[in-house]
Amino acid sequence: MDFKIVPLPADKMKTKIADQSQLGFGKYFTDRMLLVEWQKERGWYDARIKPYEPFTLDPACVVFHYAQEIFEGLKAYKWADGRIALFRPEMNARRFNQSAERMCLPEVPEELFLKGIEQLVSLEQEWIPTAEGTSLYIRPTMIAVEPFLGVHPSSHNYFYVILSPVGAYYSAGFNPIKIMVEDKYVRAVPGGTGEAKTGGNYASSLKAGEEAQKKGYAQVLWLDGRERRFIEEVGAMNMFFAYGDTIVTAPLAGSILSGVTRDSVLKLAPTLGYKVEERPIDVNELFADIKSGRVTEAFGSGTAAVISPVGTLCYKNEAIQLTGGTVGEITRKMYDTLTGIQTGKLQDDFGWVRFVA
Ligand code: COI
Repeated sequence: MDFKIVPLPADKMKTKIADQSQLGFGKYFTDRMLLVEWQKERGWYDARIKPYEPFTLDPACVVFHYAQEIFEGLKAYKWADGRIALFRPEMNARRFNQSAERMCLPEVPEELFLKGIEQLVSLEQEWIPTAEGTSLYIRPTMIAVEPFLGVHPSSHNYFYVILSPVGAYYSAGFNPIKIMVEDKYVRAVPGGTGEAKTGGNYASSLKAGEEAQKKGYAQVLWLDGRERRFIEEVGAMNMFFAYGDTIVTAPLAGSILSGVTRDSVLKLAPTLGYKVEERPIDVNELFADIKSGRVTEAFGSGTAAVISPVGTLCYKNEAIQLTGGTVGEITRKMYDTLTGIQTGKLQDDFGWVRFVA
């Protein structure tokens, strides 16, 4: 499929943020976006790269009422030699389609997903920040735009991609954050939509997040929805715990997101001399192991969050510090290695980088 390039009028060009240390996460958007439409009888059509602008949508659209939507997150980096690198975008394409399948949305051909992102990023490359810890965040999204109030899968959908120059996801930057283990609300249950990257999962997490923030915690760590006993994920990150040189994370059992960064950590760890285990983690055992010193570090992984050190965990009003509230050795090594590969400072032995033509 060819992409039509709609001209960008001079008055639609925005001023770039000069001080990249002020970018934060998801506040600024580039000049252009990708938009492709799908209708039941036509399939995908009208792929175009156009000025970034608001949609005009019917208030009855399915997405507004029944949240039929999915999204992804990946990043582009500008290397010192001028090349533009995407990190494992094929994984995002595949996961996008797994989410689509769960939410009764049409699959986007992998070629359309990847080539669309590449063309858009190439046109917008001036927007890729280069300061340490920054990148161009890419947000592919699909929304159901059929105006109809009956509950059924939409017959008309938009696949679109927007770009946002970003810095660190957490205002703390690469410093330990405080996480609250959630024991009242649940995020997902087996058979639910927890594994899909769909907006509703995030909307239903807001209440718990807000309550945790009032108590000084950055986010909540979800427990399984059945027993409220096993560690699941943080919403914006998968979680890892270091038992000496063994890094442990929860298994992909259908209710947590299959993180691209999670997978990368699991593959990188053995090359750095660490063992990995994917197994259920009982929160009571975890807290006992932190207290006894068996657990030495905790960190989260995610595209937006990269590798985020966790310095404090709180469960049932008991707050406990890890690594003396500092950044642990494994966490730092993982951050340096991952970001080193993404930005071209370290060799990519896994073939994870895909250059934008
Ligand atoms: C990402 O890491 O890309 C995500 O989609 C998490 C999001 C909630 C910021």
